[in-house]
Amino acid sequence: MKIAVLPGDGIGTEIVAEAVKVLDALDLNLEMESALVGGAAFDAHGHPLPESTLKLAKESDAILFGAVGDWKYDKLDRPLRPEQAILGLRKALGLFANFRPAICYEQLVNASSLKPELVAGLDILIIRELTGDIYFGQPRGKRTAVDGHFPGAEEAFDTMRYSKPEIERIARVAFEAARKRNKKVTSVDKANVLETFQFWKDVVTEVHKDYPDVELQHMYVDNAAMQLVKAPKSFDVIVTGNMFGDILSDEASMLTGSIGMLPSASLNDKKQGLYEPSHGSAPDIAGKGVANPLATILSAAMMLRFSLNQEEAANRIETAVKKVLAQGLRTPDIFSEGTTKVSTREMGDAVVKALG
Ligand code: IPM
Ligand code: MG
Repeated sequence: MKIAVLPGDGIGTEIVAEAVKVLDALDLNLEMESALVGGAAFDAHGHPLPESTLKLAKESDAILFGAVGDWKYDKLDRPLRPEQAILGLRKALGLFANFRPAICYEQLVNASSLKPELVAGLDILIIRELTGDIYFGQPRGKRTAVDGHFPGAEEAFDTMRYSKPEIERIARVAFEAARKRNKKVTSVDKANVLETFQFWKDVVTEVHKDYPDVELQHMYVDNAAMQLVKAPKSFDVIVTGNMFGDILSDEASMLTGSIGMLPSASLNDKKQGLYEPSHGSAPDIAGKGVANPLATILSAAMMLRFSLNQEEAANRIETAVKKVLAQGLRTPDIFSEGTTKVSTREMGDAVVKALG
C-alpha cells in the first residue's frame, strides 16, 4: 500500500505531519513517500504540480494532501498558482467523486453558529462532482464581445457543461452512499434557469429508477443554501455539481462548529483517492502550532477505509478522535471555557495515545 504524502503550503506541513504520525502508530506497513506541491513546489521547481509529484501521485494507491495556496502567489499567471495543483491532480487522476461529510460532534455542539438543537446529531454527506462543470468546461477565456449588452467591450467567459455519463456516475455514487446511510438523496440543481442543470435533474431522475429503495428529492441551489441553515438535519446525502458543491460544502462545514474538523475524500473509478482536510492552507496561522490537525487525521481514516481497505484501522482513528474530544482537548479553533487548549502537535500526540 503506497501513499503519496503531499503537505503543500501554510499549515499543510504541520497538520500532515500529525496525520502521518497517527498512520505510523497503526503499524500497517504503509509505504509513504513525500513530495512538494502548490506554492512550495513552485518555489522549488517553478511549477505547482511538478512532473515528479504527479508521477508519484499516479503510482500511489492514495494521496494524503495538506493544503495549497498563499496570498503571495496571487499575482502569478493562473497556470502557475498553487490552486492549479489540486485542480490538476483531480483532473489527471479522474477524481470525480468528492465526499465531504459534515458531522457535528457531540462535544462541539456549542461551537456552531447555529442553535445547538439545530445541529446536535447532525450527520450529512455532501457528494460533489469534481472534474466537470464550469470549473473545467471549455471554452473559457477573454475576448471582445460581439453581442450581449455591450458589443465591442472586453469580456470574460466560462462554460458550464455536463455530459450524461458524468452525471450518471456521480448519481450512482450518491445513491450507493445513501443506501449505507439514511436512504435519502437530495439532488441540488438550478433547473429553473440553467440547461445544464435541467439535464442534471433529468439524468439523476433516470438513474434513480435503479434505486427504488432510496428516496430522491430535487432542490434548487438557492433553496438548498437556505435549508442548510434552517433545517440542516433534514438532509442525508446531498449530490450536486462542482461549483454548487464548492459553495454548499463550505456552508455545511460551518454548521459543525469548525472547518478544522472536517475531512474529505476524492475518488476515481478505481478507488484511488486523494484525501485532504476540507479547510485551506490558512497562511495567517502557519508555523504557530495552533492549527487543528483533526480534519487531516480524519482524512487519513477515510483513506484507510476507501482506498486501502482497512476499515478496522479507520475506526480506530475515528474512535481515538472522539476520545480526545471527550478528554476535553481542544486546539484554539474549537476551544471553549472549561476545556484544555493544546497545540497542533499535542493534539496529534493525544490521538496516537488514544489509539490504545
Ligand atoms: C475546494 C477549494 C478548491 C475548489 C480551490 C482551492 C481550487 O475551494 O476544494 O473546495 O474550488 O475546488
Ligand atoms: Mg471550496
